[in-house]
Amino acid sequence: MMLKKIVPNVIKTAFLSLCLGLISCKGETQKSNKAITVSNKDTLSAYILKKAIADCEAQLEKSVPKLTDLTMHPRFIEKEDSDWHQVKNDKLMWTSGFYPGILWYAYDVTGNEKWKKEAIKRTEVFEDFKNITEHHDIGFMMFPAYGNGVEIGNKKEYKDILLTSANSLATRFNPNVGTIKSWSNKMHPRWKQHITIIDNMLNLELLFWSAKNGGNPEHYDIAVKHAETTMNNHFRKDHTSWHVLEYDSISGKVLNRHTKQGYADNSRWSRGQAWGVYGYTMVYKETKDKKFLDFAKVLADTYLSLLPEDMIPCWDFDVANNPKEEKDASAAAVVASALIDLSTLVEDKASQEKYYHAALAMLKSLNSTEYSGVGINDAFLRHSTGAKSLGWEIDVALIYADYYYIEALSRLKRLQEK
Ligand code: GLY
Repeated sequence: MMLKKIVPNVIKTAFLSLCLGLISCKGETQKSNKAITVSNKDTLSAYILKKAIADCEAQLEKSVPKLTDLTMHPRFIEKEDSDWHQVKNDKLMWTSGFYPGILWYAYDVTGNEKWKKEAIKRTEVFEDFKNITEHHDIGFMMFPAYGNGVEIGNKKEYKDILLTSANSLATRFNPNVGTIKSWSNKMHPRWKQHITIIDNMLNLELLFWSAKNGGNPEHYDIAVKHAETTMNNHFRKDHTSWHVLEYDSISGKVLNRHTKQGYADNSRWSRGQAWGVYGYTMVYKETKDKKFLDFAKVLADTYLSLLPEDMIPCWDFDVANNPKEEKDASAAAVVASALIDLSTLVEDKASQEKYYHAALAMLKSLNSTEYSGVGINDAFLRHSTGAKSLGWEIDVALIYADYYYIEALSRLKRLQEK
């Protein structure tokens, strides 16, 4: 009941501020490195899109020449710095695929061959990651790089690499539990048995892709089973998500519901909610099973009902009352991308408009001077939080915030071109 009342208000406010923002947007445009022309024919969303893409390309023009070491990838920018802090392309580094993924999307949204060349160079350096079986992050690592290489760059030769990656991921499925094991116990000793985290939903895309592209058809069943088990166990009655579930590896019984990156075991870590919205939207897109659409909608509505006026969540919804707590722009970018897809999957016009305008309001906010890196650092976005509870990456730019942001722009562009 309450949700129904809150959601339209959030969207109404967001849309209104979006319209008002058009005036100041014109001023902001002049700050971009690349001038854009806005004609009278441009709609509001086309205008935002054009400016946001121009900003991304200008940021890449600055950062790419500095990122020359092929054994490393950019991961974060500290608040006081302007350049990316780079880390090794390491088997244990879940973020390795996002930089090549950004370059693929940059090629997609601009058509500039230079980004394609750069994307190929940065993708092909970690082919051997296709054999990773130590954790679930292989989906996060391989799909943005090799998956976008196939889908955007038409690099058919990457297909076998993706199919091998999917086989590696599938080895972590435990049929007693009905989910993929996310983490090893050695690296996460708080838990002794089968650990599944909400983030794992994103890795299912690799399995769906495999089943559709000549891989093992069981990959589809594994992905669906994981989504069903997670739907049954990973969410509270109010449709917010826990971060980490520990299952008994033999009986499949839930032993514990905890967190690693949230404020507290029972709190609502914002990016966790974002992974849920994105994950179930994607699972519906792949399966067309209505129960997943209904679930994606309720997760999206719950997330929207918790947002502040600027549409960018605090890093954990349960500390949001404290104005000193940092934001997480990465969660907003993940959800913006998901909602653009969701707006095309729901059938009724009111829902289509609700999710579309919510996504647009998020993108507008992310592109504003409050969150944009333009003129300040080399990233697309500022003010993300990786893991405050662990003392890492607090109020920084994050490579995966930029990835989901440019993915959202690519999805919006495709939608507008339809
Ligand atoms: N493991 C993904 C995240 O930090 O959200």
